[in-house]
Amino acid sequence: MQKKSKLAIFGAKKTITTKKTHFTWPQINQSIEKRVIKQLHTNISIYDRSGIFEKFENDYSKYHKIKYSLLCSSGTLAIHSMFVAANLKPGDEVICPAYTFFATVTPLLFTGAIPVLCDCDQNGNISPQEIKKLITKKTKAIIITHMWGIPCQMDKITKICKKNKILLLEDCSHAHGAQFKNKLVGSFGDLAAWSLQGAKIVTGGEGGIMATNNKQYYYRALLLGHYNKRCKQEIPQNHPYYNYAITGMGLKYRAHPLAVAIASEIFKKLDSILNIKNDYAQKMIKTFNKLPGITPPQITNKEKPAWYALTAQYKSNELNNLNLDIFFKALHAEGLKEFDNPSSTKPLNLLTLFQKPENLFPIYKKYKFSYKKNQFPNALKFYKNAIKLPVWTSPKDKLIFKAYMTGLKKVINNYQDLL
Ligand SMILES: Cc1ncc(COP(=O)(O)O)c(C=O)c1O
Repeated sequence: MQKKSKLAIFGAKKTITTKKTHFTWPQINQSIEKRVIKQLHTNISIYDRSGIFEKFENDYSKYHKIKYSLLCSSGTLAIHSMFVAANLKPGDEVICPAYTFFATVTPLLFTGAIPVLCDCDQNGNISPQEIKKLITKKTKAIIITHMWGIPCQMDKITKICKKNKILLLEDCSHAHGAQFKNKLVGSFGDLAAWSLQGAKIVTGGEGGIMATNNKQYYYRALLLGHYNKRCKQEIPQNHPYYNYAITGMGLKYRAHPLAVAIASEIFKKLDSILNIKNDYAQKMIKTFNKLPGITPPQITNKEKPAWYALTAQYKSNELNNLNLDIFFKALHAEGLKEFDNPSSTKPLNLLTLFQKPENLFPIYKKYKFSYKKNQFPNALKFYKNAIKLPVWTSPKDKLIFKAYMTGLKKVINNYQDLL
């Protein structure tokens, strides 16, 4: 039996009292500062594929063993670039995760293709079994998200795509450097995209990258958002697209060189960042496995997650049906404010845009779709019971990490006082 102690929610001393932030990302160091200042004096707008864009894209391609990488101004627009590159048309069906951050899917609405939402597995990733049920003659592509940095079941998914001649698109925004059977995510599909937004593992504050091995897709992505000099530089003069080089498709998705300067310094350290994260994640999993009420993600020897965050599942039945809100209140009262129920990453069928798209996108009066709140039971359950913690990135964070584990154990060992 654990010794009983009084919880902070009832006025006892908090587990964590420090005024310092508990989790900081990115950690701005001298090498980032130097690189940004250097870039500031070099150029702050790059029109073609040169300078820091060229270097970053080459390094990114080499790391992933993918031919073409294209920096963009956000992950959302890198994802839009994938859909346009794949030449999706109104009425095409694209199987999409029901549980993801909405930007995995919202850019698809600009193509007129129909998002066919698909339920998730026990880790919150798109379920291969459910994908199979949704394939029709109109299915052109599948987009997947490696949620919270855990690779999807890529062996099964690539098999389904090959068998049915469906394009595979990967949203790797949570999963820079994650691997499935020793292969990097982003290198499985026909197209891949990553966000470089402030919270992401490789970040420039804002930014994104699209990557592909397919030259034609790459040219279409260039035309979408990288008009004039870059199109002229990269699309051959005898290619039918070359005549469009000046305007492209008329949009501008170029990245900011200062953002790329920040991201390039962090990208250099990606593997060592992932190793540190993995050490913390393994310790968290070990702790959670010994406790009732909280189940960590199920990782096999196939997956090497990037641990963007560790999102566990709350099991109220193991704590006498203790309400999750009260559980969170007790954790927060202990000072463990990083424990979070991620609310903007919710099943897409709960969002008005996926219930009534036609009011904002009239094309869906013709190509109708409408999702109901009670669809996708696994996604709803995963979302409702999600307990998210950041995964720390520096050995210096050991003490704060230990305090989080101590505070969690304290709340769970004394949960009966909360009933
Ligand atoms: C899974 C996923 N996809 C796409 C995005 C969009 O990226 P960005 O914010 O860079 O546009 C995010 C951002 O949080 C995300 O989490």
